[in-house]
Parts: sequence; structure tokens; C-alpha cells
Amino acid sequence: MGDVPRGEADFVVVANRLPVNKTVAADGTVSWTRAPGGLVTALAPVFENRPGGGSEASGPNRTGAWVGWTGGSDPDDEPHVDGIDVRAVPLTADEIADYYEGFSNSTLWPLYHDGLVKPEYRHDWWDSYVAVNRKFARAAAEAAAEGAAVWVQDYQLQLVPAMLRELRPDVKIGFFLHIPFPPYELFSQLPWRREILEGLLGADLVGFHLPGGAQNFLTLSRRILGADASRDDVGVREDFGTVTLPGRTVTVGAFPISIDSAGVAAQAAHPAVVARAAEIRAELGDPKTLLLGVDRLDYTKGIDVRIEALERLFADGRLDPSQTVFVQLASPSRENVESYAALRDAVERTVAHVNGTYGTVDAPPVRYLLKGVPRDELLAYFRAADAALVTPLRDGMNLVTKEYVACRDDLGGALVLSEFTGAAMELCDSYLLNPYDHASIDDAIVAAVTDDDAERRRRMSALRDQVMHNDVDQWATSFLDTLAATPAARP
Ligand code: ADP
Ligand code: G6P
Repeated sequence: MGDVPRGEADFVVVANRLPVNKTVAADGTVSWTRAPGGLVTALAPVFENRPGGGSEASGPNRTGAWVGWTGGSDPDDEPHVDGIDVRAVPLTADEIADYYEGFSNSTLWPLYHDGLVKPEYRHDWWDSYVAVNRKFARAAAEAAAEGAAVWVQDYQLQLVPAMLRELRPDVKIGFFLHIPFPPYELFSQLPWRREILEGLLGADLVGFHLPGGAQNFLTLSRRILGADASRDDVGVREDFGTVTLPGRTVTVGAFPISIDSAGVAAQAAHPAVVARAAEIRAELGDPKTLLLGVDRLDYTKGIDVRIEALERLFADGRLDPSQTVFVQLASPSRENVESYAALRDAVERTVAHVNGTYGTVDAPPVRYLLKGVPRDELLAYFRAADAALVTPLRDGMNLVTKEYVACRDDLGGALVLSEFTGAAMELCDSYLLNPYDHASIDDAIVAAVTDDDAERRRRMSALRDQVMHNDVDQWATSFLDTLAATPAARP
């Protein structure tokens, strides 16, 4: 403590990933561009608006820094992008295998998503998670100015709050979890359950998408650590609580994330995107019904759930395969993790099976793409689709839902949405389904594409009210204002 040089930034984001992509040209020239993706998409506009932005939480002349990993293991990487002071935390190939693919994505990710895949508990992965979290904490400590606000993101970095507090007791620390936070019955499987809770409690404010996650955290702090944790029934919002520790109090709350709603809507309304949407339908043979799925290729997303539903609907004659096209845009994800490779095989088999059974050579009903598509193209698909199928078995929020809704200023389209997403809590005018119940899935899809226009427009209009009035800037401002208002530690 105390031997860390102070930095200049009075607002620091700490996330596993930096918002950058590396490209190497044929002649070996390296260039860095802004990367797309859930967390990055959500935070980039917030971050850009902050330095010098002068909001209540940020003050007039702030500078900001973003601490994170480049996504690679080249020690010579020196990423830089316009408008963001990026501070790379280098990871070795072993750390990528043990901290990222191992503990983060083969232990925590499946455990926090209902154990959809069996979590693996390995001490060597845990050791790496501790060591890498320490690297991030140190980098954040070196970036932060005296009294800075440091905002730590997501499940990969749950030990950073306590480690950072050790190094820099002067800074305000916020932590936000972007994925579900499980109940006692699941979380207590974790051999390092105490350490994770203690890591998180290093923060002044711990935020979750939903009140249920906040409640789980309070219950776990009480049951596992014996902490004095309670719901704040005299507070402004019933979803806020506190954990009282010797000398300080941790605020716990729910902050459902959103998107840059106006920005997405404006981009989707651009004449070139509107024209491309019409062209996409034409290229697909002008089907009566165009269904769309957009996801990272992840077993939590229920990609198999929706393709199997289509197969049932074709088999039962409830949808006509000659007049229906389902486009699945999947972006490759965590490909070195075994469960992801297995998912890819399973999805590819199912697509081939449905096309082989219900398609013709020139008109397969399922079109499956395994690559990220450019943003304009993605928004054109959103505008073109009669229904978006969002069927996760568990998802912290799901931003695709909000992007889809933001794109539909024409009030066309319908959102078919799993109850097991965070988004379902706000987007209750969608066609909700239980992804574990075949009848519920099938009925929701059929209703979404056969309800009359007035009903579909009524629902989309209500969804748009929700999404256009609750954007990512409000999310960040609400979190950061709450962080600024948290009580200082007592000496
Ligand atoms: P997660 O964070 O789990 O990946 P979200 O739905 O919250 O899920 O966010 C995913 C983000 O990645 C969204 O911004 C979405 O538009 C983008 N995305 C997902 N799949 C693709 C794809 N195939 N091509 C381009 N962007 C994609
Ligand atoms: C989810 C997680 C993020 C993560 C993103 C992409 O949104 O909550 O923390 O960055 O998925 O996953 P990846 O493993 O590629 O970073």
C-alpha cells in the first residue's frame, strides 16, 4: 500500500477487454480499431461523453483511462485508439488459457449461468485468476488520480475491488456485473466463494442488472461471510441494500444496462440501411416471413432452442418452410473452450438437418453465418426481420433485444423473447416464452408472425417507449451518481 505511483485519470474503466481490435496488414503494419461487442458497445459512448463532459458525477475537466487486455499475447502490443487513453494489461499464453478460458469461461461463466454446462473447479486456474486480477488492480492503481472514480466491470475481475482498495484506499470503487448473479444453492459450489465475495466487497458500490442479483449478493454476504447485509427498506429504491463492514458500508443495487438508443435508431434510419434492408429481403427470395437470430455463438443463447422450434413448426405445418427464412448471424466466441466447440458442431448439425429435411437445393429455410457482420449490415437485418428470436436459457441482459427495438421506428417487427433474460423484465410487451417449454416457444413464435398488424405495432410501440427512454447514458449516469453518493470509509 502507498508505493504505487499516482496516475492522471480521475475516471478509470477496468474491464477484461480493451475496446480495440488489432489488424495486421500484408506488409506487417499493425493497426488498431475500435472493437464491437456487448460490454464495449455499451461503455464506449459513456466513456467518450465523460472526459471533460462535466456531468454531475464526472466534474468539469475529467480525464479518463480504460484498463484492459488486448485479446492477444504479443508482449509488443501497444494499442491506441482515438479518444480513449487505453492501458493494456499484457497476458501470457498461459494466463489466457488459465485465467480467461479456464477460470473465467469454464468455471464462472457456466456457474453464473445456471450451470448450463458443468463448471470445472481447478486450483491452477484459480491461482491464475488471482494473479491476473492483481495485474489489473495494479494497472488501475497506476492510472487513477488521487480520489478518482474507478469502475470495474464483470465476472473476470471480481477480486479487483478489494485488491485496488489495498493499493489505493483514496479512490472510489464501483463494480458492475454484466451477467447473472446466482443464488446460494449454485454459488456455494464455488470452492473460492468467500474470496470472491470478499473481492467484490472491496467496492463502494456493487451493481447488478436485476434486483434478484442484488438480493442474491446480500443473502450470500450474510450466509457465507456472516456480514451485516440488509435490504434498504427506507431507501429511495426497494432494490437497494447495504453491507455494513467494519469502518465502511457497501451499497448494493440494480442498474439494468441499455444501449445508445438514439444513436442506433439514427443509424438504422439512414437511407442506405433502409435500402439494404429491402435488398436483404429480395436476396432471400422475398419470403413471407423473415426470422432473425443474432448472438455470440454461446450455449447460453439458446440458438439450438430456436432452430429446434422451427423444425417442430415445419413438421406440424404451423410454418411453411417454402415461405419462411430464418437467418442466424452468429459471431465466433471463446473457440478454445471445449463447450463452445461442441456447441458449434451441434448447431451446424441441426442447421444441416433442418435444411436437408425441409429445404430445396436453391431455398434452404435456415441461413447460418459464423462471423461478425459490420454494424450497418447488422442494423439492416434488424430492419428487415419480421421477428427477432431471442431465446436464451439464461442471459444477464441481452442487448440484441434493445438494438432490434431501437431499429424499428417503422413499428414493424416483433420481439420473441425468453423469460430467462434480464431484458424480459423491462421488455414485457414482447412475445415472452419459457425456453424449457416447447409449447411456449412454438406458440410465441407463431403468435409473433401471425398476430394482426395492429397488435404487433401496439407491442413494438410499447417496447420502443421503454428502450428509447432508458439508454446506456442513463444507466452509466445512474451508476456513477450512486457511486459518487456512497459514504466515505471511516478511518
Ligand atoms: P453478449 O454480451 O452475451 O454477447 P448481448 O446481446 O448483450 O450479448 O451483446 C452482444 C453484442 O454483440 C450486441 O451489440 C450485438 O449486436 C453484437 N453481436 C452479436 N452477434 C453479432 C454478429 N454476428 N455480428 C455483429 N455483431 C454481433
Ligand atoms: C459478455 C460478457 C463480457 C464479454 C463479452 C464477450 O458480454 O459479459 O464481459 O466481454 O461477453 O466475450 P469475450 O469472452 O469475447 O470477451
